[in-house]
Amino acid sequence: MRKLVERIGLRALRLLDPETAHGVALKALNMGLAGGSGPVTSARLRVGLAGIDLPNPIGVAAGFDKNASAVDAVLKTGFGFCEIGAVTPRPQPGNARPRLFRLAADRAAINRFGFNNQGMDQVLANLSSHRRNGIVGVNLGANKDTPDKAEDFIAVLRTFHTAVDFATVNVSSPNTERLRDLQVRAALEDLLNRVLEARSALPTHVPIFLKIAPDLSDADLTDIAEISLAQGVDAIIATNTTVAREELKSPLAKEAGGLSGAPLFQKSTAILAALFGKTRGRIPLIGVGGIASAEDAYAKIRAGASAVQLYTAMVYDGIGLGAEIARGLDDLMMRDGVSNIIDIVGADAGN
Ligand code: FNR
Repeated sequence: MRKLVERIGLRALRLLDPETAHGVALKALNMGLAGGSGPVTSARLRVGLAGIDLPNPIGVAAGFDKNASAVDAVLKTGFGFCEIGAVTPRPQPGNARPRLFRLAADRAAINRFGFNNQGMDQVLANLSSHRRNGIVGVNLGANKDTPDKAEDFIAVLRTFHTAVDFATVNVSSPNTERLRDLQVRAALEDLLNRVLEARSALPTHVPIFLKIAPDLSDADLTDIAEISLAQGVDAIIATNTTVAREELKSPLAKEAGGLSGAPLFQKSTAILAALFGKTRGRIPLIGVGGIASAEDAYAKIRAGASAVQLYTAMVYDGIGLGAEIARGLDDLMMRDGVSNIIDIVGADAGN
């Protein structure tokens, strides 16, 4: 019955413009329409990542609940963890609408939101009003007009440090000018140095993750792996959306912004695998990009991910997808005689 209601709901939502539809979906979630009884879990699915115990490795990617307005409802549907944000110090409206496009023929989306959010004080207040029945991280953003982006990341980190289980340094969103330049060696070294130093001065330990773009060369990845290992980054999230456009059928394919969903799967998995080859378990990886099924999640884990996240597939298949993928992953591991996720992380990587 719930599946049927969800299917009808999804059809109705598709009649609205995508941004309005997303707002309605978050409201419906908060009204309890998606139901659920909390994170799906089992001995096979439980996994430790950077000192955090995840009930299952399927997470909601950043951007889905930017303002922490539906954290409890999202976790209730079965996800193992949720990343809120990106959050910037000051509220900002983001780019002009329309700025989110559905590419249905490609099972994809393009967004150029530009970090629209209510600002760190309001988002912290929103998060604090939840019961917080699970693992929550914050995606650190920088205001459009801040020249020194590190300053903003540190401000948001300081504001959230007692309220979250991890914080992600996001240097990979394509919609904030010059943000991705921070992935280049010298800039990344300086940025991480400052963020990690600020983290050490905090009374509560917060694991720091780094989120990277899919549009990077092998040399860039070598730099990122070396710097992350040397500086003690707790995990790397691979990947954000891509600025590339390859073989898309949808007429909206030429819209500017970051492309996500099915067409990103191979590219982001290749980046993940390359990064695993360079780190070999010395730093945990989180795989994101185009996951729409348990098989996709399984492939990311076998390529090197200890956990995964998704967003765009939920636009097409609904919020229940998290629980469905977690249960499906459990079945796949049972089928293959795998007793826990850690036994297959990077299994496809070769020697
Ligand atoms: C995103 N994503 C994103 N990432 C991030 O680090 N900070 C952010 O604020 C956002 N915002 C955002 C908005 C929208 C509308 C989308 C579709 C995506 C990127 C997201 O977290 C993820 O990395 C990519 O979307 C790839 O995963 P999927 O969507 O293919 O599962």
